Amino acid sequence: MRPVSPIRPLIVSADRAQIEVLDQTRLPHEHHVLTLNSRDAVADAIRNMVVRGAPLIGAAAAWGLAFALRDAASDQHLEHSISYLNATRPTAVNLSWALARMHKRLQPLPPSQRLEVAQQEALMICEEDEAQNYAIGQHGLAILKTLYEEKKRPLRILTHCNAGALATVGWGTALAPLYLAQSSGLPIEVWVDETRPRNQGALTSWELHRAGVKHTYVADNAGGHLMQHGLVDCVIVGADRVSAQGDVCNKIGTYLKALAAKEGGIPFYAAVPSPTIDWTIQDALKEIPIEERNTDEVTWVQGLNQDGDLTSVRVTPIGVMSGNPAFDVTPAHLVSGILTEHGVYQASSKGLKPLREKCR
Ligand code: MRU
Repeated sequence: MRPVSPIRPLIVSADRAQIEVLDQTRLPHEHHVLTLNSRDAVADAIRNMVVRGAPLIGAAAAWGLAFALRDAASDQHLEHSISYLNATRPTAVNLSWALARMHKRLQPLPPSQRLEVAQQEALMICEEDEAQNYAIGQHGLAILKTLYEEKKRPLRILTHCNAGALATVGWGTALAPLYLAQSSGLPIEVWVDETRPRNQGALTSWELHRAGVKHTYVADNAGGHLMQHGLVDCVIVGADRVSAQGDVCNKIGTYLKALAAKEGGIPFYAAVPSPTIDWTIQDALKEIPIEERNTDEVTWVQGLNQDGDLTSVRVTPIGVMSGNPAFDVTPAHLVSGILTEHGVYQASSKGLKPLREKCR
């Protein structure tokens, strides 16, 4: 029996008419649950990053479509709702993957049957995600155990962004092996990148703190220095889209960590459930759409003021030009392995071929 994930950011109501989600724009300072029961509310939650992280975005969108079909189940409403939800964020392929899976299941059905089947399919997407992430955790734990045999001391692992339970339906991807290492008594210490501009590192710190995992929160720019000084044994990150050649698209700043890891001979893994692999992508740098988000995310920063109130403060002069690409691409030659629910695969088209067969 698979243990229950330490955190579940999306809970489906018993009547499947609504989902309760943790508002990740207020974490880690405020634990606020939002009830979503319409397509538009789900779309807003994805756009505004109330729910975020590739697998969770896909799962939430599936429920958004189910809610849309409660209002109207015509072909036209089905198609329109899929493009409406698909347009919320461009980079995480799990969004279009989940909606394409729902469409394939629903389109052939008479409208009268679509709502119930949509709810069943959305539930399956959620259950599969949690199971896939737990399996990623087990394969990742095996890697950490081998590394521990080599180092014979607490392992120091660096992670970027939040690829934890919060970013999925359960267990997380990059954090799943860390949860299992902790519960199996394998000593680990984690370097947590702050991950500007939205500080997803604070979400990772919140998760690891709850799980009692020893960790240190660092500025994004500290990673290279830590690696140069032999303070990092392994880097594990998540991904929003992996190409058929093993190129990894993840939160902005991941590429720089991969470069430093390569320079230092430090293993760099991307942990992804197989829906995050986009087999249609041949040239990741040209073909993967990189989201450009509102530059206020860069020029302002959110946190608690002295009175303990959640607030935002401006960090730049007024009127400064600013840019905010939200993701980057780490080429396959910098990736030591793609860690999936089926095991670890070499980051190359030849290396991923057996996985592709499994995913057909
Ligand atoms: O902008 P976000 O917070 O949705 O970006 C999330 C990431 O980049 C994660 O690393 C990725 O989605 C994997 S989540 C398991």
